[in-house]
Amino acid sequence: MNLSYEQLVERLNLWNHAYYVLDDPLVSDAEYDHAFRALLAMEAEHPDLVSPQSLTQRVGAKPIDEFKKVEHGVKMLSLANAFSLQETVDFFDKAAKELEVSPSSLAIFSEPKLDGLAVAIHYHRGYFSYAATRGDGQIGEDVSHNIKTIQSVPLKLVTNSPPEKLEVRGEVFMPKAAFEKLNRLAKQQNSKVFVNPRNAAAGTVRQMNPQIAAKRDLQFIPYSVGEYQGEYEFTRHSEMIGYLISLGFKRNPHCYAFSGSFEAFAENYQRMESLRDSLPMEIDGIVYKIDELATQQTLGFIARSPKWAVARKFPAQQATTQLLDVDFQVGRTGVLTPVARLEPVFVAGVTVSNATLHNMDEIERLGLCIGDSVEIQRAGDVIPKVAKVIEQGENRKSITMPARCPVCDSVVTRIEGQAAFRCTGGLICAAQGAERIEHYASRRCMNIINLGTKLIEVLYNNGTLKTIADIYKIQLNDIASLEGQGEKSAQNVLDSIEASKTTKLSTFLAALGIPDVGEGGSKNVAKYFKNLPAIQAASFEELMQVPDVGPVTAKSIVDFFRDEKNLAIVADIINAGVVWQDEQAEAVQAQPLAGQTWVLTGTLSIPRQEAKALLENLGAKVAGSVSKKTDCVVAGTEAGSKLAKAQELGVKVMNEATFLSEFKL
Ligand code: IVH
Repeated sequence: MNLSYEQLVERLNLWNHAYYVLDDPLVSDAEYDHAFRALLAMEAEHPDLVSPQSLTQRVGAKPIDEFKKVEHGVKMLSLANAFSLQETVDFFDKAAKELEVSPSSLAIFSEPKLDGLAVAIHYHRGYFSYAATRGDGQIGEDVSHNIKTIQSVPLKLVTNSPPEKLEVRGEVFMPKAAFEKLNRLAKQQNSKVFVNPRNAAAGTVRQMNPQIAAKRDLQFIPYSVGEYQGEYEFTRHSEMIGYLISLGFKRNPHCYAFSGSFEAFAENYQRMESLRDSLPMEIDGIVYKIDELATQQTLGFIARSPKWAVARKFPAQQATTQLLDVDFQVGRTGVLTPVARLEPVFVAGVTVSNATLHNMDEIERLGLCIGDSVEIQRAGDVIPKVAKVIEQGENRKSITMPARCPVCDSVVTRIEGQAAFRCTGGLICAAQGAERIEHYASRRCMNIINLGTKLIEVLYNNGTLKTIADIYKIQLNDIASLEGQGEKSAQNVLDSIEASKTTKLSTFLAALGIPDVGEGGSKNVAKYFKNLPAIQAASFEELMQVPDVGPVTAKSIVDFFRDEKNLAIVADIINAGVVWQDEQAEAVQAQPLAGQTWVLTGTLSIPRQEAKALLENLGAKVAGSVSKKTDCVVAGTEAGSKLAKAQELGVKVMNEATFLSEFKL
């Protein structure tokens, strides 16, 4: 079926709404991806067609330079808090008194209080116009670039008669699962770990670069309307929310309407408290609102909060206990994380006896010692953490990073420029095992096609694979005896192990997973030293002579090859038949372009990677941009600015055909 561009955009938006807003997908991921690719292709062919409501427009091309200030037409207020049932009831008793009605006659609407940050999203004639943070209530910051990336924010309202103006107010938050995923990734990459989903959401919305927000799975749920110019005269808050849902927004789960009696508030609170942990997002309380908009208007505001709504907060999720000891856990990348062992304490419904301390800088910041009384904080499913020292212990003992890894006894070193410490055990450290093996076997490394992540984990957990050298000891039956595997698939694995044995020195070096030694570094080192014994014997100073190799990489390589256990594993692998042609042999081949810098631009008939490898084998360095130092530019079809720059600077330009006929062997 051939769809027009507009039909395709509409269809994808409908599917997107079903998936992200209703949590009820209409089609398979594959079908969705297929349509999305068709959309991309149409837009690439006809850039003039691109519609602002197209899914492709969610992520802008460029980061912004600064946050523009935005004045709110209607002030963005906060809510008064109630910390007990009595305080909640008192709040509405007071309102009822002012209205001269009985409290139980008030129609109350309850909503989960989402724990994120308030954002106002403006629509003009049905289209997303801009979005702003609350700021000080009067002036906020324009964060449109990030809010547009949120899939549950419609770029076009779902209606044929859009209001002239609509400002939708609500909470941007990060679901618990997205938060955990983000922190897991951050830990793997040794980058900043967020304390809780609220901080993660706020930090993400205040990023300059929308590409970051696009990757983080934020969500938006509306809870009120700010400015509105449209045809409806709403009488109830719940009706207004219903209208927003009909326009394509996501519904706040577990909203209830009831009359404001003591029993009703009590029952509602109990229900919400017991639901809390099972919700996909953090909530820090319940917001109770008088549903009638006219009544809201009569009551108005006091100071900075309405007299018709109150936030019933859940009890603090903190408790005080004693720090008994600190253990160090070794993660899959070798980073050691201090973990607090605590006198068990009951916090927000669970008994806590361990809490993360993140890293040594955090311990220093807290001024923490073993024996201290500490405050523990727990929010929902989030791992409990030590928030602060309440009282110093009498015989307090300072916390020190162990000199040796608690798992494998290898030396522990601080990662240069970071708060983290790492075990140098590398290949022999069981804590780092499975991931190292996965890296080694991956497509970009040894490319052992049939030895995938799942199989590696099974073989690692059952003890077949302890180190990468064990890959070459796998027997047919080790795999054939596993559930879901047979002789044929086992043979395929063995065949692909065999086929992977012929490799390149740089590939093998990268596959070892030496910290801070990636593909590029491995290539440079292999090219410089030309064979493995020379690399193994290289000193720090010698390694520093390698182009583009810095002190972190140099030290890491020295540490790695100084370790007898790593050397034994490497020797085992070579004995198992892994071979490569020494770079020397390659280097002897003519290197007519040695010392030159070349640039590739435009569309080439061979893959860009291949052209790059060809140039590198000829001795050239391949750069990403043209400068006076560039020796030659290879221009494919549709070459643009780089070609123009080369011509401007008088740099030699060669077309692809000439390049290939001259150099391709
Ligand atoms: S109503 C005029 N409803 O809580 C009052 N706020 O502590 C408008 N929040 O700034 C707010 N969930 O960011 C409302 N269902 C909900 C909410 C909610 C979370 C936040 C909101 C507000 C803060 C006040």
